[in-house]
Amino acid sequence: MSLNIKNRLIRVADFVEGKRLADIGSDHAYLPIYLAKNNKISFAIAGEVVEGPHKSSIQNVKDNNLEELIECRKGSGLEVVELADNIDVITICGMGGKLIADILEAGKKKLENRPQLILQPNVAGNLVREKLQQLNYNIIAEDILEEDGHIYEIIVAQYGTMELTETELIFGKFLPDNQNEAFKQKYKIELEKIDYILEQLKNAKNVDDNKIISLQNQKNMIKNILG
Ligand SMILES: C[S@@+](CC[C@H](N)C(=O)[O-])C[C@H]1O[C@@H](n2cnc3c(N)ncnc32)[C@H](O)[C@@H]1O
Repeated sequence: MSLNIKNRLIRVADFVEGKRLADIGSDHAYLPIYLAKNNKISFAIAGEVVEGPHKSSIQNVKDNNLEELIECRKGSGLEVVELADNIDVITICGMGGKLIADILEAGKKKLENRPQLILQPNVAGNLVREKLQQLNYNIIAEDILEEDGHIYEIIVAQYGTMELTETELIFGKFLPDNQNEAFKQKYKIELEKIDYILEQLKNAKNVDDNKIISLQNQKNMIKNILG
């Protein structure tokens, strides 16, 4: 069966090094199916908390004759993973950074085997980077891409330590040094949003000076990064 997988998930798949995958929030199980079809994994858990998406992952795995290789498990976050599964790569994609960070925090005991982590926050990548640092994970690669009018970050980490500066937490450990079009576009849009808010505040009756200072600081940080 042909697979309706997005370029965003193919980019995530390119970073997968392990053979035993847990894909958390696997609504259609596209990522594990794609990896299995390309012989990149030998076992996968497709974890999903909501009944409808869980059922659709079961159906897709069945349609692709991959039931022997991919187990669809229903549950929240890393609770679907047992240490005995010997998972060596975990992917959590297509969610907000806060939710990804919360899933990692709640399931940190499941990281004892030190799996590679590949995380794709839709927003708030800073919260993911902060959590990785707290959990003794080191970012080894990052990517940023545009698809269907949205900009997505991909963060790849392995067990180890790192100490990120505030700038690296916000903009990425590697992204600012290799600015591609998606990176520039993301922060051009951010600058436009900030300018719009500052303009609105000019006409507001009760203006919070601290808010203006904070917005101007954000603006300066972005301008410095873009150079
Ligand atoms: C927007 S979809 C992204 C699906 C896929 N990972 C992708 O990147 O295209 C997010 C999925 O995560 C699931 N989800 C949200 N919170 C979850 C949690 N705590 N545990 C497992 N799945 C969760 C949602 O039900 C939804 O199916």
